Amino acid sequence: MKGIVLAGGRGSRLYPVTRGVSKHLLPVYDKPLIYHPISTLMLAGIRDMLIITTGEYLDAYKAVLGDGAQWGVAFQYAVQDEPRGLAEAFIIGEAFIGGGASALALGDNIFYGAGLTGQLQDAAALTTGACVFAHQVPDPHRFGIVELSPDGAPVSIEEKPAEPRSNQAITGLYFYDADVVEIAKAIAPSTRGEVEITCVNKVYLDRGDLSVTKLPRGTTWLDAGTFDSLLEASHFVQALEKRQGLKIACVEEIAWRKGFIDDGALEALARAYSNDYRTYLLALLDKSAQ
Ligand code: DAU
Repeated sequence: MKGIVLAGGRGSRLYPVTRGVSKHLLPVYDKPLIYHPISTLMLAGIRDMLIITTGEYLDAYKAVLGDGAQWGVAFQYAVQDEPRGLAEAFIIGEAFIGGGASALALGDNIFYGAGLTGQLQDAAALTTGACVFAHQVPDPHRFGIVELSPDGAPVSIEEKPAEPRSNQAITGLYFYDADVVEIAKAIAPSTRGEVEITCVNKVYLDRGDLSVTKLPRGTTWLDAGTFDSLLEASHFVQALEKRQGLKIACVEEIAWRKGFIDDGALEALARAYSNDYRTYLLALLDKSAQ
């Protein structure tokens, strides 16, 4: 399966911070925000990724991420000049997707929890239909909301409803079969001028082809698109990393554990650092040698 990371948009909710820098390059404690969606896709086993950003920041992303070979993955880049909606990712990415299944990870979404890797791998094995994840939120008017029947089947989906029918938000991680490109192309822009991902999900829902996995209580999902949520994300990552001595969204570690890179490559990545990353990554190799 191919993966798309959508890291465009104006980041206007974070002005003035994002007037001169892309939101997804801002730090979440010890790494750029975009490391999170990239590591989510890597954990799903996806190695071919398209990074979509604005032309203004394309070079900055290339400087931070390169071609991906250092992590045993392959990054391609594409530009979305205006934020015309999440579903446009599949139109921009049509050639990259190449007629198969694909996953979309929003650049500002963070996932963390035990058992998540298995759920991601299951979703990435999809060949027909669509799979999305839902998480309970206290402020459902801010999200795409799914109403579920008692047996967990999706009943309705609405984007940022004024009167939400549930508090289950659809998170920014979507897995689709090959039909998604044609579905995205057929969607008319909403009143806010965007090709909505919620409309794509509705098409799958109407076909009876949408699977919604509720993320369990132990899984944390953060949408780091506001001042508070970005700071909360930093505090969350810092607290867990300090407490457990394990890094979250450490792309080098994930690449190595997944077998995308070997010990020598991990050591070279470690030695290029002169900070805590060096100690952490070298310790992984020491432990595996014991
Ligand atoms: O975070 C999950 C939510 O993401 C879902 O529950 C909603 O259904 C979905 O519409 C989306 O809502 P947001 O209001 O959070 O989307 P936002 O406009 O913040 O865009 C999400 C990310 O995608 C953000 O990092 C900017 C980027 N983006 C957004 C648009 C509209 C693009 O790169 N291009 C775009 O055209």
